[in-house]
Parts: sequence; structure tokens; C-alpha cells
Amino acid sequence: MRFASIRSLVLAFSLLLAAAVPVLTPAFAQGPANSGGTTQNAVQGPASGSNPTASAVSEEQLFRQLDKLTGRVTIPDAKAALLQQPQGRDYRGFREGVLPWLGAIFVLGMILALAAFYFTKGRIRLEHSEESGRKILRFNALERFAHWLTAMCFIVLAISGLNYIFGKRLLMPIIGPDAFAVWSQYAKYAHNFLAWPFMLGLLVMIVVWIRDNLPDRTDVAWLKQGGGFLGGGHPPARRFNAGQKLIFWSVVLGGLALAASGLIMLFPFSASGIQGLQFDVNGMQLAQYVHATVGVILIAIMIAHIYIGSLGMEGAYDAMGSGEVDLAWARAHHSLWVEEQQAKTASGPQVGTGRAAPAE
Ligand code: HEM
Repeated sequence: MRFASIRSLVLAFSLLLAAAVPVLTPAFAQGPANSGGTTQNAVQGPASGSNPTASAVSEEQLFRQLDKLTGRVTIPDAKAALLQQPQGRDYRGFREGVLPWLGAIFVLGMILALAAFYFTKGRIRLEHSEESGRKILRFNALERFAHWLTAMCFIVLAISGLNYIFGKRLLMPIIGPDAFAVWSQYAKYAHNFLAWPFMLGLLVMIVVWIRDNLPDRTDVAWLKQGGGFLGGGHPPARRFNAGQKLIFWSVVLGGLALAASGLIMLFPFSASGIQGLQFDVNGMQLAQYVHATVGVILIAIMIAHIYIGSLGMEGAYDAMGSGEVDLAWARAHHSLWVEEQQAKTASGPQVGTGRAAPAE
């Protein structure tokens, strides 16, 4: 009798278990025992005989309700198990929404501001207009080489970088997907390879120009007079005025930030082994935030620099073209520097070519 009741108890329990397994299996498959899979808000559908998938977990529900979506991997790369996380969704929002707006506002805003300046005020001209006809060496061959190496690379990096942000939206509808795919592939190669000569040029510029770009008292006076726009006349300046120093430091700090974040992206996850550095998926996203944001800001700043160094200011281009500028231009824009060069001439030979006049 006792044996019979135990037997019927075991039978009833087995039947219950057999009925429960198909219902519980989907929930267990996503359960916490599943190698760290996150199911804070496990999704369960009602069991129904008429719809065999009704109790299965809906992918959309998971995306909406789970904080993180992870799977289970048997390969050594554990981070491959992470499928979705909130930071990833935030990054997608930045990449597809905020970044294109930021880029458009900075880049187009700068172009419009410069166009407005040009059409209302025109070029910045030499005061007392006449050129002296005498030349002074402003930048030697190494300085010009470093400048043009960095500048040329930066322009290609900027165009190929903007292609990442705007290409699919603006260029692809015009040239078609096939041509866009070919162009984008070459643009990507150019972006990855020209990053190296850009970093080299940046380092040389830092070495040759950092001394002349340290802030000093003349910068305060220059800034107070708005570089000559407020109060009339050119405020005295040494080799680089405060405006140029701002350009230099933007290029240096922006360039270093681009280089660091770019290297992290060129060698993804490779820094994760270094102590204290967390270059997991979130670290990679952080590198992209920095790279893209600094990139569009620096592009806008360099558009202003290119404008002033070419169309915007009479006589400026020669400094980076031939390396020599007219003495009258140098006196107007860098009076203290000309005096320093004069002092050097008095005490010894001035650095320069045969054609450059010794500053008198
Ligand atoms: C392609 C167009 C460019 C032109 C026509 C141009 C022109 C010039 C000129 C004329 C100067 C000397 C100004 C002086 O006499 O003091 C200069 C300086 C300089 N350039 Fe450029 N540049 C260009 C692009 C770039 C780019 C893309 C970068 C950096 C990414 C750059 C970085 C610098 C720096 C750091 C200086 C020294 C600081 C200063 O004068 O503002 N340039 N450039």
C-alpha cells in the first residue's frame, strides 16, 4: 500500500515535469545560468496550444526590455558575446544624428562666416599699400616641408573623414552605390595610410615651432586690439601673433587627440591589455566620439586658416610659398620679429637665402 502510493507520487511528478519542460525551456535558454547572459527583465509569453511560437521570446521585446543583450561564445574573445548594450545605442544616435548636424554647423557655418567677411570687408590689405621690394626669409625649407606635408595630408584626411559622415547621405544619391563603394574604399585607404605622414609632419611642426608659440605679454595686447580690427593699426607681434598661436595650439592639441584616438581605431582592442586602460567596446566608442568631434572642429578651424593664408590676407601666402615675405608686410604684421632679426643681422649672419634682404 505504502509502496503503491510512493509509485503513484513518482508517476505524477514525472508527468508534471514532462509537461513543464517545453514551457520553461525558452526562458531557461536566456537565463542567467547562460554564461552571464543578462535577463533582468525576462520576457515570457503565454503558453497557448494554438500558436506554437507564442511562448518564444520575441527579439523586439528583448531589445526593448533588456539592458544588455549577450550571448554565449566558446572562442577566447569573450567580448564577442556582447550583442547590444545601451552605450552602443547612444553611440548610434550620435553617429547618425548628432554628428552630421555638428559637422554641418561647424564646417558650413565657418564657410558662410568667411564668405560674409570676404564680401563685406574684402581682403586684408597691406597698410600704406606699397611693397618695399625687399624680401626677408620667414620660413626655411624644413619648416615649409613640415607645413605642406601636414597640410596636404590633413586635406585628404578631412575629405575622406567627411565622407564617413556625409558620403552615404550626400554623395551616394548623386554618383550611385557602385561608384560610391569604389570611392569610399580608396578614401578609407587614404585615411588609414596618410595618417602616418600627418603624424610625422605634426611632430616636426611641434619641434620647430613650439618655442615661437609660447604665450607672452604681446599676445594680451594683440588680443585686446582684436588683431588690429579694434582700434586700427597692427598691434606689435613677434614671429607668431596671438591668432597664429591659437591656430598652432589647435593643430597641436587637436592633431594629438586625433592621432591618439585614430591609433586606437587602427589597432582595435590592442590597448586593452595595458594596465589601467579599458579599451573594450565602450573604449572603442569613446575613441570614435573623440576622433569625430575633434575632427569636425579642427576642419572648421583649418578652413579659416587656409582662407587667411591664401585669399584672405594680401602677401601672406609667400611665407609658405617661397618662404620669403616682403619686408613691408613683415614690418606691418610682425614688427617685433623684424626687430629681432635686425638684431641678429647686426651681431652675425641672418638665416636666409641669398635673395632675402637682411632686415635693416
Ligand atoms: C592648404 C592650404 C594652406 C595654406 C594656403 C596655408 C598657409 C599658411 C601660411 C601662409 C602660413 C604662414 C603664416 C605666417 O606667415 O605667419 C601658415 C602657417 C601655419 N600653417 Fe598653414 N596653410 C594651409 C594649410 C594648413 C593645414 C591643413 C595645417 C594643419 C593641419 C596648417 C598648419 C599651419 C600652422 C600650425 C602654421 C603656423 C602657425 C600660423 O601661422 O598660424 N596649415 N600656413
